Amino acid sequence: MTVLVTGGAGYIGAHVVRLLHERGEQVVVVDDLSSGAADRVGEASLVQVDLATDEAVGKLAATMAEHGVDSVIHIAAKKQVGESAERPAWYYAQNVGGLANLLQAMEQARVDKLMFSSSAATYGLPDIPEGALIDEEARPAPISPYGETKLVGEWMNRAAGAAWGLRSVNLRYFNVAGAGWPELGDPGVFNLIPLVLRALSEGKQPVVFGDDYPTPDGTCIRDYVHVLDLADAHLVALDYLDRDDRPHDVFNVGTGSGASVLEVLRQIERSTSHELRPETVGRRPGDPATLVADVSRIADVLGWRASHDLPSIVDSSWAAWQHKPGR
Ligand code: WQD
Repeated sequence: MTVLVTGGAGYIGAHVVRLLHERGEQVVVVDDLSSGAADRVGEASLVQVDLATDEAVGKLAATMAEHGVDSVIHIAAKKQVGESAERPAWYYAQNVGGLANLLQAMEQARVDKLMFSSSAATYGLPDIPEGALIDEEARPAPISPYGETKLVGEWMNRAAGAAWGLRSVNLRYFNVAGAGWPELGDPGVFNLIPLVLRALSEGKQPVVFGDDYPTPDGTCIRDYVHVLDLADAHLVALDYLDRDDRPHDVFNVGTGSGASVLEVLRQIERSTSHELRPETVGRRPGDPATLVADVSRIADVLGWRASHDLPSIVDSSWAAWQHKPGR
């Protein structure tokens, strides 16, 4: 049987595809190549489709039938929080519309197992005690159109479960970084670690958004998870879909421990042997002081836990950065 991976030519998707291949699975990738690259999918078949277009339902259903697809990993999405605030309707069209088309195709082709990439952005500014971990029971309250599209996606999957028997695992990613292979580094420079690596390679200084948060060093704390660990969680989720009949499940994917912006910068200094003199500017709107996953649920139910730490994340990010200098 075959796994269909949407967004399989992108940063996270390419890691998932490679791990699936290592496990001997047949893979077909669906990607519009808007940010992905065809040379990242290895020996997988690649079908170029924009999921949000009208013809996507028919093309996807035909692809599923042709390749004998029995499960789908849906990673393709737009994922920039700031851009989503500028172009909300487009984000809804891409992320919600894309998933709606995919679900219609799955229903037509009678494919009932879905792993959906959700996000910690569904939590927004969590209303939990300072320093507490966030679990899946917390009330989702996204504060960006991007986070809203991910929450609506979870709801659509739940509704499809009730309507026609879809079984879905919804993985809420925390701060994904690192590279499993140097050639599969994050091509986008939108998050803290790539932004600092770019500044460093350009001889510039990194910027810290606020040092007056209620955290030990005053900078924001996040849960950085290695992309290889995250990719592994997808495979574990697929196995779970094979053996569990529950229609809908949500899991945090993080490490359960946080690092502050300054701790990340110190690790980047160690990994790159470059000294940094960061410039502190004002807070960035919408940043929670602390967002760290409670990972007990994914550990208890799926038996999964992250195995890479921050040094490994930053070392591998730097190796990937050097693999493609001049970005
Ligand atoms: C991390 C920390 C910044 C850049 C985002 C999305 C989230 C998820 C992951 C997709 C924050 C600080 C950053 C810089 C800084 N994406 N920072 N200087 O905002 O935690 O999460 O990516 O699902 O939904 O919101 O990640 O990497 O932008 O920031 O000080 O130049 O680094 O303020 O505290 P974020 P990030």
